[in-house]
Amino acid sequence: MASILIHPDTESASRATAERLLAAIRANPHAVLGLATGGTMEPVYTALIDRAAETGTSFAGLHTFNLDEYIGLAAHHPQSYRTTMDRLLFDHVDIPRARTHLPRGDSEDSAVEARAYEAQIEASGGIDLQLLGIGTNGHVGFNEPSSSLASRTRIKRLTRSTIKANARFFRSGEQVPTHAITMGIGTIMQARNLLMLATGAGKAEAVAAALEGPVTASCPASILQFHPAATVILDQEAASKLKWRDFYEDIHPGGEEVYFADTH
Ligand code: PGA
Repeated sequence: MASILIHPDTESASRATAERLLAAIRANPHAVLGLATGGTMEPVYTALIDRAAETGTSFAGLHTFNLDEYIGLAAHHPQSYRTTMDRLLFDHVDIPRARTHLPRGDSEDSAVEARAYEAQIEASGGIDLQLLGIGTNGHVGFNEPSSSLASRTRIKRLTRSTIKANARFFRSGEQVPTHAITMGIGTIMQARNLLMLATGAGKAEAVAAALEGPVTASCPASILQFHPAATVILDQEAASKLKWRDFYEDIHPGGEEVYFADTH
């Protein structure tokens, strides 16, 4: 099972996530990183930018692949995930834009674009570390409930609840996208390491279902139970519905990574 690290608060959980990303970059300056958008990730990227500056860490040799992009939004649209990633991270570090990859939301044929994106990931040698959020309905990327657990990058329709959750980022009256291109669950599972962050009480139910419920397409994030190297970082609120919470806290007090010399 995954390492489940429960932090005292959101700030500490976000910082710990940023530290792991930083450590992966420092360990391999040519790493291929899988990145995610969403409100949860904003403090992570802020902390990552600060720590990269403090430690003089270069991003110039990385490749990044984001999980998803809205269909119908051009790259320059203020709410596209391309614009969001530029604003939150890429504008503040030394990675050349050409090394940052997101599916194009305004391509002529989104199905072709999705297949090409999958091929690009493969051609890069595969993702070393994939950052993940989780939706209140258990989605990862835009793999909504009922997504095939073997799916690859493709077009997905968004659930009404996801469209509603995303509406907060759009101006009132503005059309909220109903479809996205998203890495598939099979694509995500191929990453060598997974790093999921969930914060806030709104995620507690989805987190409990993903980590302690059955592995099911009804909760796509539950597939993490099958990944050999998944780490889940939570704050107290997101952890609040876990049945085995005290056990996870015994193993990792305060969310700290503890290594036991005598156990494997
Ligand atoms: P959020 O989105 O960070 O904005 O809650 C997470 C997700 O839907 O994957």
